[in-house]
Amino acid sequence: MPERSRVAVLISGRGSNMAALIYAAQAEDCPYEVTLVASDRPDAEGLALARAEGVAVADLPPARGNRAGFEAALAEAIDAAGIDYIACAGYMRILGDDFVKRYAGRIINIHPSLLPAHKGLDTHAAVLAAGESVTGATVHQVVAELDSGPILGQVRVAVQPGDTVEALAERVRIAEHQLYPRVLAELVAAEVGPEAVLAKVRALALALPAAAEKLTHGMPGFFVEGGKFFAYFTRDHHGDGITALLVKASGVEEQAQLIENDPELYYRPAYFGPSGWVGIRLDGGAVDWGHIEDWLTRSWRMSAPKRLAAMFDL
Ligand code: GRF
Repeated sequence: MPERSRVAVLISGRGSNMAALIYAAQAEDCPYEVTLVASDRPDAEGLALARAEGVAVADLPPARGNRAGFEAALAEAIDAAGIDYIACAGYMRILGDDFVKRYAGRIINIHPSLLPAHKGLDTHAAVLAAGESVTGATVHQVVAELDSGPILGQVRVAVQPGDTVEALAERVRIAEHQLYPRVLAELVAAEVGPEAVLAKVRALALALPAAAEKLTHGMPGFFVEGGKFFAYFTRDHHGDGITALLVKASGVEEQAQLIENDPELYYRPAYFGPSGWVGIRLDGGAVDWGHIEDWLTRSWRMSAPKRLAAMFDL
């Protein structure tokens, strides 16, 4: 079996969604495994289940009144465990901007409503008060703004006559347990962790004529023998938290244009000065590998000795 993506689950309470994620991962074809559970509350009920199932529980300082310190310790535990994805499951604390930025695109959350309807707390009471006939749950990417971020999947749950908040919450939970493992598995399969992304980049880069690889400034760099570097793979370079491919655009003008048109995909890499090197994010959702291949080819052509490039064009 290929290596599975490593998932950390954050909880504050019962942890029934965490349990659903753990049990779904027993399936042989599940692309993730839960390797860490963390809580802002040392007495969270779900922690006993995690321990009983042999999942490591992070040892963290109290969170109350100490968000920065708590999140720093949490990040340390997550990095030490080589975590690829963070799944919030009934985690009742808002994650700080720095934390969210550090794991951009790799944190997801489950929310008990059909977002964008009923963000925040007390969703079931709001659904009943509004007399709605359908509610449900949503799995979404976590961004700085609460309960926003791209929606990855939803499940619908019918409101029944005479429903109470508790009865509705219980049925929504059952639906959540179906939704969360499926969406996480889909996400992981579509957008694999940095190691697998590097393997893919490497395969594409080294498939180009006379291409070779060398570690440079801590980054795997790809160059044309007898020519120049045409690509670098960067992962958390100088702690920037970014996984990306660096390739050569035609110059600073094209670089600026690309970034202006699609600032979520392209960025200007630090430490490259005013050059045409442009960064393409590989951590912001499913990667378009055809697009990456095109860029590698283009960048290779600009870096290869003329004769080789001409031969390649034939
Ligand atoms: C779930 O309803 C989830 O959507 C919400 O909090 C609840 C957590 O339940 N964010 P559990 O701890 O997973 O049982």
